[in-house]
Amino acid sequence: MKIIHLSDTHVGKGDNADKLQRILDDVHRFCGPEGHLLLHTGDLNDTGKTEGMQASRILFDAMVDKGWQVLLAPGNHDYGDSLHIDPHWAENFRTTYARYIFGSQAPRFPVLTLTDDCALIGLDTNEAEMGFLERWMAEGFLGKRQIDALDALLDQAEVKQRKVVLYMHHHPFFDAFAVRPGRGDVGFYSQLFSWNTRRFRRLKDAYPLMQCIRDRVDVLLFGHQHFGLDYSAEGQRYGIALALDASSSTCTQMDTQRMRYRIIDTATGTFHTRFVP
Ligand SMILES: [Fe+2]
Ligand SMILES: [Fe+2]
Repeated sequence: MKIIHLSDTHVGKGDNADKLQRILDDVHRFCGPEGHLLLHTGDLNDTGKTEGMQASRILFDAMVDKGWQVLLAPGNHDYGDSLHIDPHWAENFRTTYARYIFGSQAPRFPVLTLTDDCALIGLDTNEAEMGFLERWMAEGFLGKRQIDALDALLDQAEVKQRKVVLYMHHHPFFDAFAVRPGRGDVGFYSQLFSWNTRRFRRLKDAYPLMQCIRDRVDVLLFGHQHFGLDYSAEGQRYGIALALDASSSTCTQMDTQRMRYRIIDTATGTFHTRFVP
């Protein structure tokens, strides 16, 4: 099976709705639904506010009408904005996108989707950040309940006999290697609060997660940082062949990049990045 991996489209900001439409048109033309699955690792929308929430839902529905299977993991912007998440907005998003987040299953994470050769497991990296003190900055926090449930799921026979693909929004690894704007490029406050703190803002329980999934997961997919890097060298320390950050497919806050998505072949463990003209 081949996975089309998109992330961080931030629909509602600028012309991202039009960009997502162009990307999905390209996906359908270039790949077609046969043998493929469309996977979005969150920050689908730029804000969890109700207004504008239907725009990307309509685009996903159109892909389903064309024969696509679509899976979605929620991001921090889907539940709030860049500074916080809001439990009421989160509930609204989970309800509006239930078809893509949970399929026909009960609304609870982890979510398991089986294909002939793959077990796809979706996590909610916002789940343990709903409390008043945790919800600020939205770094990502799975919580013990979710990691324990994942641990049990990875032991199931129907999972173990397939390629295991774990997908979620937040970034488990500590740092990245991208050219970062300096003070003169982005302004003092932007550099101080955004770039200088970025290396510290990653999934709070990344360590127990990686201990749980080591040697049990084949492909790890995520978004959030908008870097678009291949972390497979880091993933291989945990026995994970592919670990990929999708970047922002609509290149939000990354204007040096091109609109893009990844095509991941789970049978061969290879991938390539498609840049949308
Ligand atoms: Fe994002
Ligand atoms: Fe995010």
